[in-house]
Amino acid sequence: MQKNELLYEGKAKRLFTTDDPNLLITEFKDDLTAFNAEKKGSESGKGALNCKISTELFALLEAQGLKTHLVKTLDDTHQLVRKVDIIMIEVVVRNVATGSLSKRLGIKDGTVLPFTLVEFYLKDDDLDDPIINNEHCLILNLVDDVKKLDILREKGRKINDILKAFFAARRLNLVDFKVEFGIDENGEILLSDEISPDSCRFWDMDTNEKLDKDRFRQDLGNVKMAYEEVLKRILEEK
Ligand code: TMP
Ligand code: ASP
Repeated sequence: MQKNELLYEGKAKRLFTTDDPNLLITEFKDDLTAFNAEKKGSESGKGALNCKISTELFALLEAQGLKTHLVKTLDDTHQLVRKVDIIMIEVVVRNVATGSLSKRLGIKDGTVLPFTLVEFYLKDDDLDDPIINNEHCLILNLVDDVKKLDILREKGRKINDILKAFFAARRLNLVDFKVEFGIDENGEILLSDEISPDSCRFWDMDTNEKLDKDRFRQDLGNVKMAYEEVLKRILEEK
C-alpha cells in the first residue's frame, strides 16, 4: 500500500490517504512537543520506537477484544490504519496523581488514587485542551448520544486494566495515559491514534525513574533511552 496525499500533519504524526478510501497510512515523526507545542524538540529514532511500541500495545489490546484502527504495521515508522472520524475528546485515565491533576486540584504528586479516574479533555489546541464534562460534550456535539461517553469511559478503563497488569509484570507503573477514539464507516468505535511514551506516563516500580515524555517536558535527559527501555520491557517474555 502506497502513501498518496498528506491528509493531516499533527505534532507527532502525519496521516496520508491511500488508494483505498477506508484506509490511511500513519507516519510516526521524531518530533517531540510539550505544553501545547510551546516547547519543541526532536529525537532521532523516536518515531520508530513509538511506532513499534504502539503496534505491540494495540496488538495486545486487540487480542483482549478491544477493537482498534490498526490494520498492519508497514515498516519502522508507518502503520496502515482504518479511516475513522476522530471523536474530538482526549480520554485521560489516571491511577496516580501527577501532572495537570496535581496542579489543578493540589493532590500531592505521586498519590495513588483511591480508584481509577477517567477524564475528558477537548481536543482543541487553540483552547489548550480544556477539561470537559458530559454536558460540555453534548453541547459541543462531540458525540451524538450520551451513551457513547459511557462507552469511552468503559473502554478507557478496560485499556487501563489490561495495560496496568501488563506493565506491572514488567516492573513499570502505568501512572496515567491519554487515548483517542474514532468512528469507522460502520459506526463502530475504534481505539485510534497511538499509545506510547508520548501519551503515557511510566514510572519504574523499583527506582521510580520516569520513562516517558516527562523526561522531555522536564528536561531530565535520556529521552530516547527511556523509550528504548519501555520497548525492551514490552518485548520481555512473561
Ligand atoms: P496531564 O497530567 O498533563 O493532563 O497528562 C495526562 C496524560 O495524558 C499523560 O500520560 C500525558 C498524556 N497527554 C497527552 O498524551 N497529550 C497531551 O496533550 C497531554 C496534555 C497529556
Ligand atoms: N501533546 C501536547 C503537546 O505536544 C502536550 C504534552 O504532551 O505535554 O504540546
